[in-house]
Amino acid sequence: PVVSVLELGGVKIARDDVVRDDPTNNVPDAIFSKLGLQLHRRNQHPIGILKNAIYEYFDTNFSSKFDKFDDLCPIVSVKQNFDDVLVPPNHVSRSYNDTYYVDSQTVLRCHTSAHQAELLRNGHTHFLVTGDVYRRDSIDSTHYPVFHQMEGFRVFSPDEWEASGLDATSFAAEDLKKCLEGLARHLFGAVEMRWIDTYFPFTNPSFELEIYFKEKWLEVLGCGVTEQEILKTNGRPQNVAWAFGLGLERLAMVLFDIPDIRLFWSNDERFTSQFSSGQLGVKFKPFSKYPPCYKDMSFWINESFTENNLCEIVRGVAGDLVEEVSLIDNFTNKKGMTSHCYRIAYRSMERSLTDEEINNLQWNVREQVQSKLNVVLR
Ligand code: PHE
Repeated sequence: PVVSVLELGGVKIARDDVVRDDPTNNVPDAIFSKLGLQLHRRNQHPIGILKNAIYEYFDTNFSSKFDKFDDLCPIVSVKQNFDDVLVPPNHVSRSYNDTYYVDSQTVLRCHTSAHQAELLRNGHTHFLVTGDVYRRDSIDSTHYPVFHQMEGFRVFSPDEWEASGLDATSFAAEDLKKCLEGLARHLFGAVEMRWIDTYFPFTNPSFELEIYFKEKWLEVLGCGVTEQEILKTNGRPQNVAWAFGLGLERLAMVLFDIPDIRLFWSNDERFTSQFSSGQLGVKFKPFSKYPPCYKDMSFWINESFTENNLCEIVRGVAGDLVEEVSLIDNFTNKKGMTSHCYRIAYRSMERSLTDEEINNLQWNVREQVQSKLNVVLR
């Protein structure tokens, strides 16, 4: 049963305001039910513990206090989420395939950067914004359609860079990297990290920080020197600034040794009882690895087919019992028809699944894939 009225950041929101039968709306029940859970505000939860540890770093290492926000409403306007941070009109992140739209002008924020402009306009110069963010995506152990980010933002005034002898942009970029390397050491002690040059519409230059974990480089944050346009439009034409957006699940998976992102949503006491307030980096002891079950499904796709739409259907049917959806075969025949074969891995984090249960899930998935995606099963 889905709760039908929520209170978010002091605003009351009805289920019907969010989940509607409306072509400009693509928010399913499974996503609505995550609104308001605010894992980042639970002090005994790995996400909350991590948030507090990052707060502590900023409280103890900087003379100017960072203002903290962790209760801003995740339902924002297209303007806040995209226009205010200079995301171009044709950017993929604006598409219905990537973002959850409540209506054509309202989205579930896909990043905490959605709050930068407004906070700047309200006069804040040092701030941290923590919140749940929403993205349509594929399914595997490090991707979940709801996750948590922390945005950091710092404004500098001319006397700060003038004293350094550097130009404003280099000064901000250097300060940013020092700040985040210090944060990584505060959280991890010694850890292998590397900076990658990248692109974001709202920063220039832009960087990503990756951390080495389980034989893989894991992207944990994006950051950069804020585009001057954003400062200019929001009352700070004489300043420069840096910003970062940190993925809390990714960091927490590394810190606490949590093998699957679905575990963050588990109410199983064998998970929740392993974490306590202020205890960063206590290694999670898996209670047991239940066996996975794989089901393959092949179909002829059509032009409108996307993997994100498929994954939404699988999540809608199987919820957190789905571990991974992967494309294992893809070919086009002489008539130009393209066939995809997807392998779905079902596995509960909490118990063994029965054959009957899995066959039922798979049956429902097949039926919905056929009726909602208009593909032809093979
Ligand atoms: N908003 C970016 C993301 O979600 C992260 C980011 C924040 C990058 C701030 C630069 C500056 O991927």
